[in-house]
Amino acid sequence: MNGGAAGRIVGVGRALGGRIVTNGDLEDVLDTTDDWISTRTGIKARHFVVEGENAATLAIEASRKAIEHAGVDGGSIDLVICGTSTAPESMPSVACLVGEEIGTPGAGAMDLAAACAGYSYAASVASSMLHAGAAGRVLLIGSDAMSTIVDPGDRSTAVLFGDGAGAVVLDAGDGDSGFVDHILGADGSGAALGRAGHPGDHEKLFQNGREVFKFAVKILPEMIEKLLSRNGLSSEEVQYVIPHQANARIIRSAMRKMEIPEDRVVINLDRFGNTSAASIPLSYPDIYDAMEPGKYVITVGFGFGLTWAANLYRI
Ligand SMILES: CC(C)(COP(=O)(O)OP(=O)(O)OC[C@H]1O[C@@H](n2cnc3c(N)ncnc32)[C@H](O)[C@@H]1OP(=O)(O)O)[C@@H](O)C(=O)NCCC(=O)NCCS
Repeated sequence: MNGGAAGRIVGVGRALGGRIVTNGDLEDVLDTTDDWISTRTGIKARHFVVEGENAATLAIEASRKAIEHAGVDGGSIDLVICGTSTAPESMPSVACLVGEEIGTPGAGAMDLAAACAGYSYAASVASSMLHAGAAGRVLLIGSDAMSTIVDPGDRSTAVLFGDGAGAVVLDAGDGDSGFVDHILGADGSGAALGRAGHPGDHEKLFQNGREVFKFAVKILPEMIEKLLSRNGLSSEEVQYVIPHQANARIIRSAMRKMEIPEDRVVINLDRFGNTSAASIPLSYPDIYDAMEPGKYVITVGFGFGLTWAANLYRI
């Protein structure tokens, strides 16, 4: 981006579905084992929404926490943008429901659907609006209730996903700290590799796991490499990589290729499973206080569509 960084994170929050489901719990209802799930994916537990919860209620809870953490008033938000593919209804958007509950009168509100890359896509829009001066403060959210679109009886997918939301408050910043670059990509020829309907639909999520796996291990390091090289950075300057949390084997393979040590890679899939657009932003509360000014954070996602996106953030 020309002219410095835009979109400085000043508050973070997250919310998770009310029911914790361990691999052991799934052993009781599916033909699966803790060993299979742990070894193939790294996932140990996930949270599912309970009665009355959905992608909108999770987004509202995460947003409340982020706004409180930032110490700002909802009325000062100019735009609410939510990456989600599991809105409880097609209309109104999750972002509109968040705006109403948080109290952001008159602020713009929209959802952005880019599957598991939804947060990184939405972050690029948010920081561009701040960079242009079209907004002064943005509430940026990733929220998905994947259990509402997955067949609980399909062991090949039911063990992988979880429900959660992550929210961040972004200020324009001073040009030093904030997002400095983004990559967005998509390839609709890969649409058949993963599909899902809306919550409540009869048809549930389908994926070709092996092909998505191959795509992911290729695209993740490619995006990181591109962000580093076109910004003249070395991987040592990156304090954290927050990859989309689909599978620990995908993440390990990508980080090995990039020679990024494990202690700089943020992992939450062991606790939360694959929470789609939420998987990146719900990591922030775990690292926010340790983020060192002057260093960089790379957020990098991929998903059905196919979609992929990454963001370079200067702390
Ligand atoms: C889904 C995924 C974990 C499957 O792992 P895999 O090593 O590719 O496993 P396969 O699909 O080849 O299946 C291997 C075997 O395990 C079985 N299996 C599948 N799910 C199982 C489960 N929950 N428990 C036990 N066995 C299972 C399969 O039936 C298959 O059995 P077979 O060899 O007798 O046919 C992996 O492909 C993956 O993570 N892909 C990426 C998916 C992704 O990122 N999706 C989200 C996009 S954002």
